[in-house]
Amino acid sequence: MRKSDAMRIWLTRSFKPFLFLGEADEELRFRDVKKLGLYIHVPFCETICGFCPYCKCPYDREKADRYIDALLLETEMVAGRGEGRAEATSLYFGGGSPALAHGRMAEIIEAVRKRFRITEGIGVELHPREVNEEILSSLKRAGVSKISVGMQSFHEGCLSFLGRPSHDIPAMRAALEKTPFETVSIDLIFAMPGQTFETLKRDVDTAFAIGANHVALYPFIDFSFADKHAAPVAGREKKALLYRIVEYCESRGCHRTSIWTFSRDGGVYSSMTRDNFLGFGCSATSLLMDRFKINTFSVDEYIKRCESGRLPTSLTLRFTRRQRMVYYLFWTAYGTRIDPRGFETFFGVPLEKEYGFEMLLARAAGLIERKNGIYELTRRGVYYYHYFEQFYTLAYIDKMWGIMRETPFPERITL
Ligand SMILES: C[S@@+](CC[C@H](N)C(=O)[O-])C[C@H]1O[C@@H](n2cnc3c(N)ncnc32)[C@H](O)[C@@H]1O
Ligand code: SF4
Repeated sequence: MRKSDAMRIWLTRSFKPFLFLGEADEELRFRDVKKLGLYIHVPFCETICGFCPYCKCPYDREKADRYIDALLLETEMVAGRGEGRAEATSLYFGGGSPALAHGRMAEIIEAVRKRFRITEGIGVELHPREVNEEILSSLKRAGVSKISVGMQSFHEGCLSFLGRPSHDIPAMRAALEKTPFETVSIDLIFAMPGQTFETLKRDVDTAFAIGANHVALYPFIDFSFADKHAAPVAGREKKALLYRIVEYCESRGCHRTSIWTFSRDGGVYSSMTRDNFLGFGCSATSLLMDRFKINTFSVDEYIKRCESGRLPTSLTLRFTRRQRMVYYLFWTAYGTRIDPRGFETFFGVPLEKEYGFEMLLARAAGLIERKNGIYELTRRGVYYYHYFEQFYTLAYIDKMWGIMRETPFPERITL
């Protein structure tokens, strides 16, 4: 038996695997959930990067327009039923490069706002080449309040490893200065072959110097279906790099907002840490109280489904209660803390009643500590979470996305 299976059986108290079936609910019951996040996936990119696992395809104006029309149809199919506007904490656009659709952003946001009252802002991912005055001001006019730039690195060697071009940094800085956003987040990748602490530290410094108030530091993940492969950086080396860069970020006045993100001066950018969310667009996922669903990864099938008036759902997982608890704890811990009151409000039972022994064990192992009634991951706990997250990504996400890239509507996937 694999270690991951043993862990799943232990934590879910059941031999039942996570079973995703090729079935779809025609109605998603989101109106009575609290803290609902919204996500919209736009899969188009000007150039395709070999290391990137996300659902994406080359930009084509006509196809992108049809896709956005389909997105509007899906939003109405999901949210058009029922009375009044539902409350949503945030709306994030990811991709792909959603800023390529900046000309239609106002229309999409207006359609979403017709159905949802968004309380904490709207975020959009940008490729560095899109950080210019024209696109930034168009996004701002549309109501966007946060941006996230996929810089990956400012270092020539790292950019060349990733197959990404370098950019005019002073021009980016000037554009960001001219059009300020509440959050400017910059994605950096670490643990690439040959990258040192010094180059990574310079990346972090440059990110803040050009105007970021939030940075995401993702470990390089070598997906089996990506075109870019590299020998993994040794665990010990990666751990040392992670510890040093975290200390450095903290010494620069940042605080950790999740395993991989750091904020300074109030920057917040988080499309993932939500108790419930609705996702629109190809490959987008939705998470509700007792189910998780994934849309098809095929852009053409996505458009066809929406045009025919059917939801583009590819797979649905109906959680057992314990599976949902494990899922909840996994994603809450991603934010580096677990508040037992949040768990109890969500499930109606105390955390310690369900997972008291595991919490005790994690405390004894030095992975968490209890402060003011909240469990916080220690430095050691964060490292192990980080290790576990990569393992989960390669064991589960890699398998699932690998299948979904090939088959628009699989019959079932068991994890
Ligand atoms: C959808 S992409 C970025 C948005 C934009 N299209 C761009 O390329 O700048 C989101 C982020 O995921 C991260 N990412 C993509 N592939 C990765 C990989 N193989 N390992 C680690 N991080 C990765 C990158 O930091 C990237 O900016
Ligand atoms: S990294 Fe960004 S630009 Fe490159 S393929 Fe992925 S989504 Fe597209």
